[in-house]
Amino acid sequence: MSGIPKSRSIGRGKPCSKLGLGCWSFGGIGWGPQSEVDSMAALAAAWDKGITHWDTALGYGQGKSERICGRFLKGKRDSVFLATKGEVGKKPAGIVKALQHSQGNLGTEFIDLYYIHYPKSGLDMRPHMELLEKEREKGTIGAIGVSNFSVAQMEQMSEAGTIDAHQLGYNLFWRIPEDDIIPYCREKGIAVVAYSSLALGILTGKFPANSKFEKGDVRPLSVFFREEVWPHVHAAAERFKALAARTGRPPHYLAIQWLARQPGVEVILAGARNAGQASDNAAALADKFPTELLDEMDALSTDLRLHYPNETNLFQWHP
Ligand SMILES: NC(=O)c1ccc[n+]([C@@H]2O[C@H](COP(=O)([O-])OP(=O)(O)OC[C@H]3O[C@@H](n4cnc5c(N)ncnc54)[C@H](OP(=O)(O)O)[C@@H]3O)[C@@H](O)[C@H]2O)c1
Repeated sequence: MSGIPKSRSIGRGKPCSKLGLGCWSFGGIGWGPQSEVDSMAALAAAWDKGITHWDTALGYGQGKSERICGRFLKGKRDSVFLATKGEVGKKPAGIVKALQHSQGNLGTEFIDLYYIHYPKSGLDMRPHMELLEKEREKGTIGAIGVSNFSVAQMEQMSEAGTIDAHQLGYNLFWRIPEDDIIPYCREKGIAVVAYSSLALGILTGKFPANSKFEKGDVRPLSVFFREEVWPHVHAAAERFKALAARTGRPPHYLAIQWLARQPGVEVILAGARNAGQASDNAAALADKFPTELLDEMDALSTDLRLHYPNETNLFQWHP
């Protein structure tokens, strides 16, 4: 077990690590080639290093990511805080079917944290929330979460049940949730689970100015890679890399540590593609943060924000 700090309990769930393993790429769709061997090795390394919060979704590779997690967890289910997500449709009962589908994929009757993955514009989702509360009562889920919701949507959902966690895009280069969503979550005691903590890998400093992606890759769908935005993001990533180099740390170490210091953030999700990345991210969180860099890091993200369009959702996805 490593020195990874723990988050507070989310809902009735057991305590888990503050660093979570993002399992989207294990689905094999949207992130370029991903071998099952690498996915299993990432899970093994995470488990070994004490990364005990795992995040997946029914939609990741049409259930493949969940099935891989389920295979790994056979015989060790209780050692991990398992979070997954389902989509809402017009028929509220669909969310329960999605939950059952995930339980089958994951090989468990209990999901520690179950999220509504995305709000559906114009849909009253309170009936869905009521059904999830019934699932909580039955003991099939330990906590209820929403993801990518606005404050107004959270307000409405709270009329029908208790939101325990909000999973949202948040990182040093994407701080828009600080305006209203994170303050709301803090006020209401809703745990913030940050996704795309490494800005889809940009905060590792690995992307060249002329980055190209295969058809079907999800990264170009993000605000960061919009044609008019990317040159500014790339310039900021270069500045960030230089700043990190002064401390002798890789830039993503600073990115993970910065997030760990942000008020309200309970869990930092980082998507690791293999054992090396999972272990490295665990080491990043365990490292010491050079507080003297805080002002420069703030200035970097403030400058970058001037170049963003008026978009609240990192993936610009509004189903
Ligand atoms: N609720 C939602 O709507 C939503 C949306 C997005 C993500 N998520 C969740 O959050 C998780 C994490 O977010 P994310 O996958 O979008 O992005 P992320 O964690 O910001 O970035 C993941 C990418 O960073 C690179 N990386 C990770 N660790 C590294 C290391 N130690 N050294 C070098 N490169 C490293 C890898 O890039 P390469 O591929 O280049 O190796 C990896 O694919 C997802 O897996 C998913 O579980 C949820």
